[in-house]
Amino acid sequence: MLDQRSLPTEETYIECDGPEEVAEAIRNMTIRGAPAIGVAAAMGIALGAMRLRVKTIGQFKEEFEGICRMMLETRPTAANLSWAVQRMKGVMRGHEGEGLDALRRSLKSEAMAIREMDIDVNRQMGHNGKRYIRNGSAILTHCNAGALATAGYGTALGVIRAAYEEGKGLEVYVCETRPQFQGARLTAWELNKEGIPATLITDGMSGYLMSRGVIHLVIVGADRISANGDVANKIGTYSLAILAKAHGIPFYVAAPLSTFDLTIGRGEEIPIEERDSREVTHPFGKQIAPEGVRVWNPAFDVTPHEYVTAIITEGGVAEEPFTTSIKDLFS
Ligand code: MRU
Repeated sequence: MLDQRSLPTEETYIECDGPEEVAEAIRNMTIRGAPAIGVAAAMGIALGAMRLRVKTIGQFKEEFEGICRMMLETRPTAANLSWAVQRMKGVMRGHEGEGLDALRRSLKSEAMAIREMDIDVNRQMGHNGKRYIRNGSAILTHCNAGALATAGYGTALGVIRAAYEEGKGLEVYVCETRPQFQGARLTAWELNKEGIPATLITDGMSGYLMSRGVIHLVIVGADRISANGDVANKIGTYSLAILAKAHGIPFYVAAPLSTFDLTIGRGEEIPIEERDSREVTHPFGKQIAPEGVRVWNPAFDVTPHEYVTAIITEGGVAEEPFTTSIKDLFS
């Protein structure tokens, strides 16, 4: 996998030899972004299944469960992770009677299918969402919801890409996204690579840009969406949604159906990952805050559905009343 920690200055690929290494790559954000985490976890489980040296199905199942648990414990917020693990578990249940070799093959094909499906789903989302981007639009995005955050094409950036591929003139304003700078390091890199016009801003500049009428719409991805349409996404998303509402600017979320967690009724129930304080005090290894300062570093926030104009998925677009329209997407 491409080591996203060294972008944009170095394009380094790492090879994972076992599920432990995949789990560590998810944990330390070598790979990140909700759908990409799901794909990596499925691949890690398949890799683990290929490597297991056990003789009985009973032993295989026990080890397999352990690998699934390890993947689930890497990062708590992205729903796509547990979605992918559940799919792998489903294959285990459906094929356990077929012998170990056949089972290993089925698990490997499922992981590959999850990867392929993610690319198709992103393209479909792009197709469903591009109509919200008019020719000449200035779009604000946060974090990285692009090819890097998925198996390819991207969710929010996929929608932007689809509009651009259709020949629409557009400009993307990219929030740098502290503390990990996914906007500056990854989104700006992706957009530059494809020649899509992009302007990088620091996170605190978005309100000013909106007040000057520069931004026409906001599009972001999501890590988990509850049944009522509340959206967990990268820290800072909530502030953008409030600002967008205050300035009468539409706020769109692009996410695959695998990001929805219908077991959770409201956003307050979504577990929010808290990460190491050093991400805040030592960006790129350089100390920028006094020794011993107290730090809080939640990696995500929750945007209540009242601030969301629409959620673009591969199955269609959900709008208010979200509880009903989300239910419809799944029926
Ligand atoms: O901590 P990260 O970089 O994994 O967070 C990623 C985000 O918040 C993305 O916006 C989200 O996963 C949507 S990606 C298609």
